[in-house]
Amino acid sequence: MADRGIDGGVVVVTGASSGIGREIARLIGPRARRLVLVARRAGRLAELEEELKKRNGKLEVDVLLADLSRRDEVTRLIEEIRQKVGDVDVLVNNAGVGDMGLFERASEEKLLSMLDLNMTSLMLLSRAFLPGMIARRKGGILNVSSGFGLAVLPGFAAYAATKHFVTALTEALRSEVRGTGVTISQICPGPVATEFEENIGNFTDQHAPGFVEISAVACATAAVSGYDRGCAIVYPGLVYKLVMLVSLWTPRVIVRMVISVAGTFVRKKQLGTS
Ligand SMILES: NC(=O)c1ccc[n+]([C@@H]2O[C@H](COP(=O)([O-])OP(=O)(O)OC[C@H]3O[C@@H](n4cnc5c(N)ncnc54)[C@H](OP(=O)(O)O)[C@@H]3O)[C@@H](O)[C@H]2O)c1
Repeated sequence: MADRGIDGGVVVVTGASSGIGREIARLIGPRARRLVLVARRAGRLAELEEELKKRNGKLEVDVLLADLSRRDEVTRLIEEIRQKVGDVDVLVNNAGVGDMGLFERASEEKLLSMLDLNMTSLMLLSRAFLPGMIARRKGGILNVSSGFGLAVLPGFAAYAATKHFVTALTEALRSEVRGTGVTISQICPGPVATEFEENIGNFTDQHAPGFVEISAVACATAAVSGYDRGCAIVYPGLVYKLVMLVSLWTPRVIVRMVISVAGTFVRKKQLGTS
């Protein structure tokens, strides 16, 4: 059986200051030897560090601040982890942001920052720590992608593209490391109640229906449990899982017709013509 590296291991969680990442850290804290918490908000991470150490007196916690939308900071973070922490057993690439709106109206700066955070940082961190995992024949990478890693929705063109990158990279890596003892897993959540929605700039009065949305705790639990079992992709939440399975089996031509209607809605809403 593969040694997935969480128990007694060194685990890095990006985006640990809120939402899914914070809950993943809370789940892994009692099991790991050392936990590296990465994000920009120092206060949030310090509070989490204190909480985690109270629950597991033996746990070592490192709070490393980095703006992962900046390549120089990603490079600095990788060096800091190598020097301060050493080998990484498990990398949880969770940090990410979304951006909602018509693509032609999106801020170029915001788009580039989102691409660098959601894709480049995840790729560089994975590239930095995967060789060690392969050499030690243990551990792995848990990526937090999205349902948008497999589907698309108008109003989320660039965000969905970043998550397609994550899903494709994860799937391909998984096949490349087969037989090395390394686990590559991803969770592709639907709506999760976190700060994510506040930050995407939702200009519609539409929100995910309550019966599809899940809590950050439920999402993190599904993510860690999926990683523990070596799952390729996890769709957390029963209703959402059914929606995903139906949409993945629906011919693309039909999906295209449905999302075109949604596209017209988004355009009218944002341009205020509805
Ligand atoms: N919530 C959903 O409905 C949903 C659905 C599908 C997928 N996801 C994915 O789940 C992941 C986590 O999101 P969440 O829902 O938990 O949202 P969240 O509560 O807003 O958490 C986002 C995390 O990413 C960190 N982050 C944002 N920008 C960063 C930057 N430039 N550098 C470093 N860290 C940064 C934030 O920390 P700081 O602000 O402190 O830096 C925070 O810890 C994301 O990859 C998102 O795409 C979310």
